[in-house]
Amino acid sequence: MLFIDKFLCEDSDKNIVTDNPRPRFSFSLKSDRNGTKLSSAKLSIGDWNITTNDQIGIEYTGKALEPFTTYEAELEVIDDQGEKGVSRLTFETGRLDQSWEGRWITDGDYSFREKKVSPVPMVFRKDIAINKKVKSAKIYSTAMGMYTAYLNGKRVGKDHFAPGFTSYKTNLQYQVYDVTSMLTDGQNHVSVIVSGGWAVGSFVFSRVNRVTADRQALLMELRIEYANGTFEVIGTDNSWMVSLNGPVKEADIYDGEVYDATVKESGMTWRFASDEKLKVHPQISATYGSLVCEHERFKPVSVTQIGGDGSKSHKPKYIYDFGQNFAGIIELKIKNAVRGQKITVTHAEILKEDGTLNTDFLRSAKARIEFICEEGEQVYAPQFTYMGFRYACVEGIDAGDVEVTAIALYSDIETNGSFECSNKALNQLQSNIVWGAKSNFVEIPTDCPQRDERMGWTGDIAVFAPTAVYNFRLKRFLTKWLKDMRAEQKRTGGIPNTIPSQGFGFPATMPVMAVDFWGDASVLVPWALYQATGDIKVLEDNYDMMCKYVKACIRWAGLFSLGKNRYIWNTLSVLHFGDWVAPDVPQMSQWQGRSKWTATASLAHTSGLLSKISDLLGKENEKSYYEKISKATSEAYRSKLMDEQCHLKGEEFQTGYVLPISFDMLEGDDKKKAAKALADMVVKNKYCIGTGFPGTPYILFALADNGYVDEAYKMLLNDKCPSWLYEVKVGATTIWERWDGLDENGNCPIGDDGTDKMISYNHYASGAVGDFLYRRVLGIEPTEAGYKSFKVEPVVGDEINHAKGSVGTPYGDIAVSWEKTSDGYRMEIQVPVGTTATVYKPDGKKAVLESGTHVL
Ligand code: BGC
Repeated sequence: MLFIDKFLCEDSDKNIVTDNPRPRFSFSLKSDRNGTKLSSAKLSIGDWNITTNDQIGIEYTGKALEPFTTYEAELEVIDDQGEKGVSRLTFETGRLDQSWEGRWITDGDYSFREKKVSPVPMVFRKDIAINKKVKSAKIYSTAMGMYTAYLNGKRVGKDHFAPGFTSYKTNLQYQVYDVTSMLTDGQNHVSVIVSGGWAVGSFVFSRVNRVTADRQALLMELRIEYANGTFEVIGTDNSWMVSLNGPVKEADIYDGEVYDATVKESGMTWRFASDEKLKVHPQISATYGSLVCEHERFKPVSVTQIGGDGSKSHKPKYIYDFGQNFAGIIELKIKNAVRGQKITVTHAEILKEDGTLNTDFLRSAKARIEFICEEGEQVYAPQFTYMGFRYACVEGIDAGDVEVTAIALYSDIETNGSFECSNKALNQLQSNIVWGAKSNFVEIPTDCPQRDERMGWTGDIAVFAPTAVYNFRLKRFLTKWLKDMRAEQKRTGGIPNTIPSQGFGFPATMPVMAVDFWGDASVLVPWALYQATGDIKVLEDNYDMMCKYVKACIRWAGLFSLGKNRYIWNTLSVLHFGDWVAPDVPQMSQWQGRSKWTATASLAHTSGLLSKISDLLGKENEKSYYEKISKATSEAYRSKLMDEQCHLKGEEFQTGYVLPISFDMLEGDDKKKAAKALADMVVKNKYCIGTGFPGTPYILFALADNGYVDEAYKMLLNDKCPSWLYEVKVGATTIWERWDGLDENGNCPIGDDGTDKMISYNHYASGAVGDFLYRRVLGIEPTEAGYKSFKVEPVVGDEINHAKGSVGTPYGDIAVSWEKTSDGYRMEIQVPVGTTATVYKPDGKKAVLESGTHVL
């Protein structure tokens, strides 16, 4: 039997609304017969069809699609034995080029000038009379700010933080909500709360506000199709009402929310909304990223009462521990409340020695919610904020009168992989890596979810992307972010350090210049995404950006220097991040002081990748140009920064070896010598890690792939600080920013060390070791992008007896498990239809496998 397992339009199979005039389709197959091959596939939409052998990126090229229309796509597949499979999928077009009948509206009397705060949330409302039978009704909406819409008192949609975070100057998403079943005959009531969000509210650690707009604005249409065939569009205009004294009194991404449940619409002051003239003119498209929604719900694992001797002045506080650090919100289910009773919740990642919350490292973020109750029972969860936390302190209500649940919020991304093995601590590390990702894939790839940053720091995802795409399907999520990166690239080729930069421009020169590793995200993220998805369009779309960026790197490296020195990138090194957070040197200036090495290696790497990418895109001249640059840079690193013995001249540090080894900058004996020097350093350092962001993803590969498997495993399994498993040993449930974030007693030993309290317990960058878990411990690695062909080659360490896991590919799931047996090894491998696996068994033998399940 042949089945179509997944059939996707625009990388999604649910609620698809697209403004792409040429939507793209992909599919994967399943069969109960080993060795099944796709013979041909026919995709039909209306009277258009295409017959193909491709499974990825099949583009609709028929006649122009109509806006606001539902289409059915039919896919028929035949395999090499004539078995057939059929699947259907509906997708809807958005507005395409249709202009909005609704207009941008705001509260024309509201202007706020205060710095570093978020505006008062606005509430818009409109009464709508319906007196005909409705066939279908949809809301099309977007905002400057963050909005939640309600129809007849019920929340519309399940997402949080609409319209999402984009480079608002250029790109803005709108959402489409089907509200057919929410409308009633007669009077209907639409209300929308719009907070400042990223566009208007205070954001980035300097807390700038009004970056994109001076105040919030709303753009909405309710489009109704009646049963009698007539249509009506009710758009935002001056007949809508607006109020500034709704129930959400304050809303700020970092600070939290203040909500007064005693406020009712009838008691609010209303005036007519005014038209708003925006400062920006973005292209407004149907959601093409992955909006944030609610995921896991956590019950507390413990509740501890602090204080409370019964007197009024000593009310008890309760510390709830949810057992997991994550990004999200608290939901309060309250009973027996007295009208006006005030409940506050503060959030933190760690506790102080006395058991109270340690909020020191949140910096200016208040991460606090305040809820003013109405009488009796009620449920509240904030809408316009989120926190990074494991612990919450609830005050103002008796623990018996409130049920406290924590809800993880992150983008709507699907899990793509799994990893487990015989070592429990490594399994916890894998879980920490996954939670590090979930907590930081909130609309954009962020650095951390708790303090006053939560920004799209490019360097973090540059190093984490290969691990991220093993664990999650990130096509829409990262493609959206890369679109913003293209929009924000400077004319000079530099990439801002945070995307969207949304007011962040510090120091002033940075966005103009190219910054190694951080700017490399423009090459490394598309490359990782291409490897995982096999979709060449990812490279095509970003090619110009990559070329401009790498050319900028070449220019900056060569500034004020001659000869080979042109390739040693040492210009304005204090503005680079170097070996960021390397634990073997304590000071920020020392991390940055290593940027001559990291930047030079980064140039060799990005230019080398760009040469490969140029080749894939058939660009011969560029291929050889970038190849030459990469070679010359590698050679400069070898001769200028290393001595005869391939030892680093001057200070020796792990990253200084890891990068040239991993980026193929050294050949033959040179590579061997450098690998030996690295292995010696690692042994001398008692297998503790010494790398910052740039070296961490690659160090175990640099060891294991060059004859030091034992050293790689000793480093992976080491639990002395600094190491991955040290964090696990002392109870981490996510990945930390600093390797020594907590001492063995659970206290933070770092204090104020001149990094502006840069101590986060939820930073995914050093979780980049996940790539090694999949590629080497489990052994799954693509040999052709998208896993059309892949290899399975576990690198077996003494201490691990079995490992198993899976990786989602565009063709279906690969599953691998291996175990040591009394007489050797047993391996079980599932190969998706349409792919070929080459298996290198631990005994050195090789097998080539077609689709199906195989036991070796
Ligand atoms: C962020 C990092 C980021 C770094 C760059 C920090 O404050 O949290 O993860 O990449 O700054 O300097």
